[in-house]
Amino acid sequence: MTSSELAREPFSRRMKTRMRRMLGPWGVFFEGFVKNPVMVGSVIPSSRFTIEKMLGPVKWDECQLFVEYGPGVGTFCRPILDRLRRDGMLIVIDTNRLYIDYLNATISDSRFVAIHGSAADVEDIVRAHGHTHADYVLSGLPFSTLPEGVGPAIADATHRVIRPGGAFLVYQFSARARDYMARNFKRIDEDFVALNVPPCKLYWGWKDTPGDA
Ligand SMILES: C[S@@+](CC[C@H](N)C(=O)[O-])C[C@H]1O[C@@H](n2cnc3c(N)ncnc32)[C@H](O)[C@@H]1O
Repeated sequence: MTSSELAREPFSRRMKTRMRRMLGPWGVFFEGFVKNPVMVGSVIPSSRFTIEKMLGPVKWDECQLFVEYGPGVGTFCRPILDRLRRDGMLIVIDTNRLYIDYLNATISDSRFVAIHGSAADVEDIVRAHGHTHADYVLSGLPFSTLPEGVGPAIADATHRVIRPGGAFLVYQFSARARDYMARNFKRIDEDFVALNVPPCKLYWGWKDTPGDA
C-alpha cells in the first residue's frame, strides 16, 4: 500500500496497518494470538534454535512433500523452503485466516501452498494437491488446548497420511502431544530446547516401513 492509499484509509485501519508495518511478523503473530488465544497457544514465534534442531533429522533429498500444521506467520516456512528440493512442495494448513493471508502476501515461491483449514483434513488436502502421501509432517499445534477430540483425530489422520519411512515432527510446551503421537507411532525420539519462549519439547515420530522390527 502506498502512502497516499494509506491516507485514504479510515483512522483505525490506518493505525492497524502502521502497527503491522512497525512490528512486522511478530505483530501479526501477536494480533492472531489476541484474537484467538486458545487456538494459537503462544505469544511469540519459535526460536531459530527450535527450528534448527527440529528440522535436523529430515532427509531433504528424499522429501517431495512437506506438510506443516499451524505455520502462524511462517517462522518455519522459510527455513523449510531453503532446504526443500526444487521439485518439492510445502503445504501449510492453518485455521487462522489472518496468518494464511499474511503468508500468501509475503511468501512468493511456486513450491509453497497455504491452506485456510484444519489439520484434521490433511488427507483430503494432500490428495487435492496431487499426492497420496506426505514425506514429513511438522506440527506447531497447541495440542493441550485443542477442542475435545480434535487432537486424537489429527494424530490418527497424520499417521495415515505419512509414507512408511517418513516422520511426524512436533514441538510443544507440554508433553500432551506425545501421548497423541504414541497412539500410532511406535518409535518416538525426543529432545528439548531451552532457548525458546517458553522452553519447548521436540518429538520425532517415525513411521516404520513394513518389516522393520
Ligand atoms: C503455537 S502457534 C504456531 C506458531 C508457529 N508455527 C511458530 O513456529 O512460531 C499454533 C498455530 O496453530 C494454528 N492452529 C490451531 N488449531 C489448528 C488446526 N486444527 N489446524 C491447523 N492449524 C491450527 C493456530 O492458528 C496457530 O497459527
